[in-house]
Amino acid sequence: MHASVTCGPTIACAILRAVNQHLLPTLRLLGGDAFRSGEEVAHRLGVTRATVWNVMQEAQQLGVSVEKVRGQGYRLPHPPAWLDADEVAAALGPCAARFQVEILGEVTSTNTVMLERVAAGAASGLVVAAELQTGGRGRRGRLWLSGLGGALTFTLLWRFDQGPASLSGLSLVVGLACAKALAARGVQGVGVKWPNDLLCDGRKLGGILIELQGDALGPSAVVIGIGFNVRLPADIPAIVDQPVVDMAGTGGSEDRNALLAAVLSELAAGIDAFQTGGFAALADEFDRWHVLRDRDIVVSLPDGTSIEGRVTGTAPDGALLVDTASGPRRFHGGEVSVRAMAGAPKAPRDA
Ligand code: BTN
Repeated sequence: MHASVTCGPTIACAILRAVNQHLLPTLRLLGGDAFRSGEEVAHRLGVTRATVWNVMQEAQQLGVSVEKVRGQGYRLPHPPAWLDADEVAAALGPCAARFQVEILGEVTSTNTVMLERVAAGAASGLVVAAELQTGGRGRRGRLWLSGLGGALTFTLLWRFDQGPASLSGLSLVVGLACAKALAARGVQGVGVKWPNDLLCDGRKLGGILIELQGDALGPSAVVIGIGFNVRLPADIPAIVDQPVVDMAGTGGSEDRNALLAAVLSELAAGIDAFQTGGFAALADEFDRWHVLRDRDIVVSLPDGTSIEGRVTGTAPDGALLVDTASGPRRFHGGEVSVRAMAGAPKAPRDA
């Protein structure tokens, strides 16, 4: 789920803390259709019934929907497909050799974990995915909130020989890969809003946070953090500042392992194309998935001013091309924010 406004202390306090060590094992036990009594769960995990009760309270606070029936016990009406590195590898097929997928339970942020791994010399292709982020980060210092098992949150490390200046447009390539993978997993009407928000009928389905490390002349380590809403808790749309949607609400599959494999596979192909021909090689395809293409927009600049115009496309370096009253302008990621002024975003032309 995405909270792109500054989150208030209530949300921060609820999320930014460590979860009970028995939480994930308990929820994994409750994966099937049958109810399990608190006594049975306690016995199987070697904990007290009070611990099981506390854990179930905590699960609900973290957005997991729990059914409790007196005399029968607990059941999860929508058990998440828990992340599993073997399932991801099987779905990746031959492409699996290009990635090392590591599944973690609870982390602050998969990007933060990955930045530590970069410092320790981790290899290109490392993927860190987590069941729960307690301090997920979005762009421009915002928070990214995720319910336990209700989102796909992961970070991919890719190392390039070039310096960061040669990587312009890469963030759009990542957005394009995500949109294609989401469409392949059944999401209807998905598109990319420049530079790389994943939208479905104007509602945010996912976001990307890219963090670059390296010397000006190279090499560079690119930390690519991606989050998708898979099943949003019911109260979330009311506490975020923009329309949001999840896989469950878009006709998409909620199988997070298959989704992770689909995204990694598209990323491998997209990054290969980018390394051969730069963003220019993918600009036309990006424009077909671009929800702001040909639309009237307003660009908000960091100095507080704004400029209106019509999006005409994307430049070979990934800049947003806009026709304004004073002539054509180019905008780069990180310097501007873009909002559609009127009308619903378009679906991809031939996706
Ligand atoms: C945005 O739209 O503002 C970007 C959101 C990026 C969220 C993902 S979730 C996995 C990775 N870890 C983080 O802390 N952030 C990114």
